[in-house]
Amino acid sequence: MNVTLPEVAETADTRHLLSVADLGRSGIEEVLRLTDSFVEVSERTIPRVPALRGRTVATLFFEDSTRTRLSFEAAAKRLSADTMTFSAASSSLNKGESLRDTVETVTAMGADALIVRHRSAGVPWQVASWVPAAVINAGDGWHEHPTQALLDCYTVRQALVARGADGAIDGMRVGIVGDVKHSRVARSGVLAWSALGADVTLIAPPTLLPPSLAGWPVRVSHDLDAVLPDLDVVYLLRIQAERMTEALLPSLREYTAVYGLTRRRAELLGKDAVVMHPGPMNRGVEIAAEVAELPCSVITRQVSNGVAVRMAVLFLLLGSGLDA
Ligand code: NCD
Repeated sequence: MNVTLPEVAETADTRHLLSVADLGRSGIEEVLRLTDSFVEVSERTIPRVPALRGRTVATLFFEDSTRTRLSFEAAAKRLSADTMTFSAASSSLNKGESLRDTVETVTAMGADALIVRHRSAGVPWQVASWVPAAVINAGDGWHEHPTQALLDCYTVRQALVARGADGAIDGMRVGIVGDVKHSRVARSGVLAWSALGADVTLIAPPTLLPPSLAGWPVRVSHDLDAVLPDLDVVYLLRIQAERMTEALLPSLREYTAVYGLTRRRAELLGKDAVVMHPGPMNRGVEIAAEVAELPCSVITRQVSNGVAVRMAVLFLLLGSGLDA
């Protein structure tokens, strides 16, 4: 399952959000700008606007999720959309129903947008070809997770603005650390950070990098200690043990010793550097429990910004006539 980055750019379609490449720099910036308004809505006593009243958003999760699913559902509700929830584990898939029949059934009930997560790369593209609804990729296999990348960029921009900078990500040094091989977060992240002009370094043992990095606008390092002092953003990835079919690491303890953001390593960070993680965290593996709580960690902000970013995406696809 080695999916290279450039392939997805050719399928860009503004009715859907399947890949970060669908947006390009201007599309990403538009989402980030709109997110400011939805952050403001989220801070109100009653965080709800009527923007998507009468529209229906369905979450179709064929793979486990806590934050992404809840985040999309909260986003849809704050926009006053109706929501439908589908869980693979309790569905007619267990009676042999096909993916296509499942998707067509949900659409026949009036879903205007389908939020799709699936363990296989490419499924959201397939779904988009079957039904007229807007499709948002909420994670397909090892491939992409565009709204995660958008909320990550937004969170960094917010941290920059909070310290008086203009929020431009151009020239920022972003280090993505760990299990890049199995990470859809890393693939979408590389596309988004680099589209915004950041300088991205992947920091991982060779076994946790994809077999080919052809076309990836990144540098590679195997030495976290050497790179850390120069990074503006340290983005830790979860070790995806459930996706490892072979022994790629001698042991988790050894991984932590070389690539974990331990308390000692956190002291190497520059004074304005931020620490990020998409969650769920393996505390004590890729990040020390106490490092996740330091002031430089914006991990909780990533989660709260996720709702506002997804409101912006739903609004752009369903609320502003782009789907007409
Ligand atoms: C990620 C995912 O599922 O792709 N989590 C998330 O959506 N916040 C990352 C992971 O599972 O490691």
